[in-house]
Amino acid sequence: MTTYDFGMIGLGVMGRNFLLNILDHGYSVTGLDTDKEKASALEKEAAGKPAKGTTSTPEFVSMLKKPRKIMLLVPAGKPVDAVIESLLPHVEPGDLIIDGGNSYFADTERRFTYLKEKNIHFMGMGVSGGAKGARFGPSIMPGGSKEAYEPVRPILEAVAAKVDGDPCVAFLGNSSSGHYVKMVHNGIEYGMMQLIAEAYDILKNAGGLNNNELFQVFTLWNMGRLRSYLIEITAQIFTQTDEISHGELVDKILDKAKQKGTGKWTSQNAMDVGIPVPTIDAAVTMRGLSALKQERLAADALFKIEKSKKPVDKEKLMKNVEAALYFAFTVTYAQGLHLLAETSEEKNYGLNLETIARIWRGGCIIRADMLERIRKAYSEEPGLKNLLLSEVFNKKITKSQDAARKVARLGLREGIPVMALASTVTYFDAFRAGRLPLNLVQAQRDFFGSHTYERTDREGIFHTEW
Ligand code: 6PG
Repeated sequence: MTTYDFGMIGLGVMGRNFLLNILDHGYSVTGLDTDKEKASALEKEAAGKPAKGTTSTPEFVSMLKKPRKIMLLVPAGKPVDAVIESLLPHVEPGDLIIDGGNSYFADTERRFTYLKEKNIHFMGMGVSGGAKGARFGPSIMPGGSKEAYEPVRPILEAVAAKVDGDPCVAFLGNSSSGHYVKMVHNGIEYGMMQLIAEAYDILKNAGGLNNNELFQVFTLWNMGRLRSYLIEITAQIFTQTDEISHGELVDKILDKAKQKGTGKWTSQNAMDVGIPVPTIDAAVTMRGLSALKQERLAADALFKIEKSKKPVDKEKLMKNVEAALYFAFTVTYAQGLHLLAETSEEKNYGLNLETIARIWRGGCIIRADMLERIRKAYSEEPGLKNLLLSEVFNKKITKSQDAARKVARLGLREGIPVMALASTVTYFDAFRAGRLPLNLVQAQRDFFGSHTYERTDREGIFHTEW
């Protein structure tokens, strides 16, 4: 019987595209789905290359070369557990199960331990880049055990996006580290997307730019230091005409953003770990606020705040918004990577931040030219916790922070919501403040709750009868 190198469970667009990508690199694949249509679509799209689709789990497992490499691309949560249970009667010790979905890292930890007891390798693996990434080269973030990773490394390196020939995949660390890194990737993604949305709001409603001008300015920015996937697609979005009515589609899209949860998880976990990620928090909050459409319409009718009549210099505004985005993107990466550094220590993941910046340079949604500079900062200062403390970024941040202030000030003056941008500037000011007014918070806590405080001039714990 023919045997196959790699198996995929879940033959939706992402699953099929990932297998087609593997086929392009000379391996043979088999796919399993409950939907017969999807199973046969794989063979059709494989166009004669060695691919087999099936709806039978035992047949799927029996066709795989040992030790088996089985990847799941199924919805996070219970479906992952159900698929694992369906595999257990058929897989054997030494086989590898990879969860390539956006699973919550704590679930991955549980599954890793559960399967380890059965001598089945389990890898939580972030895959970023959407359907196109899966087909032609995603950024891949595997974690689990090195022993499990080695046999599948050649296939993952073959299919991953390449930057200067360097595959955007690397074994990241223990247990659930791969899914944790993907979660933080998505948190940064939320932050960058919100910052771009606020820039759009400012340029449109304070600067008066139309969609064509917005297309031009984002296209221009994508040729400079902001070159990135999100800036690139944003430019294209402004030119997409609406096929149903007239004008550009972007103006017809309802302003209620949805979220599958990965950005929220990043915020929640950052709170638990105690590492602030306010730009990501603001992005999650803004998605929540956008969902309150009815309330916002009611409030809009209630509050008619006078806009200032001050003229805005378009050219100057565009220049400031570009610098504001450069500043805010950098600080958002800094927040996310700081969270990874801290969590890696706490959970003993063994993460290497230079490696993470390196594999994010291509294939993933937050890919950007600036990630090469970020990689360099971590390679020059391996123990670096926060990018704001790196020599590499100091001058650039100092130069661009004033523009970020100006744009945030304009938003506040005009009543244009700049929650992510303003949070980023305030995070920067708080992070670089040698002295914060939290001595007063300590005094208040001791006043009403006798929670004690430390002093600036001597060691010890103190309490005062106020
Ligand atoms: C990626 C994307 C992918 C997914 C988003 C959408 O890295 O390829 O992040 O994982 O499209 O997570 O998430 P939201 O629905 O939460 O925006």
